[in-house]
Amino acid sequence: MNYKIALIRGDGIGPEVVGEAVKVLNAVGEKFGHTFTYEDVLLGGCATDAVGKSYPDGTAEKCKACDAVLLGAVGGPKWGSDKPAEQRPETALLAIRKDLGLYANLRPAALRPAMADACPLKKETAEKGIDLMMVRELTGGIYFGKRDKYETEDRGLEATDLMAYSEKEIERIGRRAFELARLRRKKVSSVDKANVLETSRLWRSVMHRLAEEYSDVQYEDVLVDNCAMQLVRDPGQFDVVVTENMFGDILSDEASMVTGSIGLLPSASIGDTAPGLYEPIHGSAPDIAGQDKANPIATILSVAMMFRYSFQLPAEADAVEQAVDAVLADGWRTADIAEPGVTPIGTKQMGDLICAKIKG
Ligand code: IPM
Ligand code: MG
Repeated sequence: MNYKIALIRGDGIGPEVVGEAVKVLNAVGEKFGHTFTYEDVLLGGCATDAVGKSYPDGTAEKCKACDAVLLGAVGGPKWGSDKPAEQRPETALLAIRKDLGLYANLRPAALRPAMADACPLKKETAEKGIDLMMVRELTGGIYFGKRDKYETEDRGLEATDLMAYSEKEIERIGRRAFELARLRRKKVSSVDKANVLETSRLWRSVMHRLAEEYSDVQYEDVLVDNCAMQLVRDPGQFDVVVTENMFGDILSDEASMVTGSIGLLPSASIGDTAPGLYEPIHGSAPDIAGQDKANPIATILSVAMMFRYSFQLPAEADAVEQAVDAVLADGWRTADIAEPGVTPIGTKQMGDLICAKIKG
């Protein structure tokens, strides 16, 4: 088969990690008999520098002409919150999520076998294993609600951000979570703040309806503050965790830290139609950009998710994941995950080693 992939290389270390992921795509293509063609798409701070805005006209259309999108990372201090919205990389990220209808953000947080010692939690806790899938609603809630800033008569400046959710939005993300749980350990933990928020009470009632429909899946409600605590107390209890946009933003960072290796974690953002968007969960790390120091594994594992969720190629996905685990088991480490006394390797060498394992 031939697949067309949009590459958003982005800012900071983005171009380097995407470069290695492309090598891996080509290695898989060679081994399994697929061809991948690539279309570069400009988005992020680099787009602001090139054309004056972070989300150039026609970006969504270019991506829609492809089967999947691979994104490195965008952002950096150069395009900070003091800049107008259309120049900020974050604006572009939110816009592409919305324009491609990517309402489901899947962020697996798993302790890879060779990296168990990187887990910052107690040994007994790590030994139980961590393998959870955070399912974050990505195109609704406070991120996309009405916002305003205005002068008041007696309180000075005031600002407001509105969190709104419709039943429809909640149901479609809920279904994704239950369907995923069926393919995993059959447990859904739905996270909300129903003791305070009206949106959360609606969220909970829709989830309960779905829980009845998916009666083969174990279901629980977890309040968001408790979830934050449980993630560091006993993350092994979670299988699929489903939650709204901002809670998911915060909890997915926490979950990634618990695995001890943010440089290893991929993500998928998908909607009801192609293309899905795949990206590492780490940022653009401008401090190490261009130095061959970045860890390309999260982006490479994002390619595995692309195979699994966009192309329905599970054997290819397994091959990538097994190659990563084999290289880690051999003891190879980039600087971010190197144990004391281990000499780290660079971005390119890590990519080459993984390709070599894939080609066998
Ligand atoms: C993420 C990031 C983004 C978000 C920012 C960069 C807008 O933190 O993907 O988690 O909040 O969604
Ligand atoms: Mg975030």
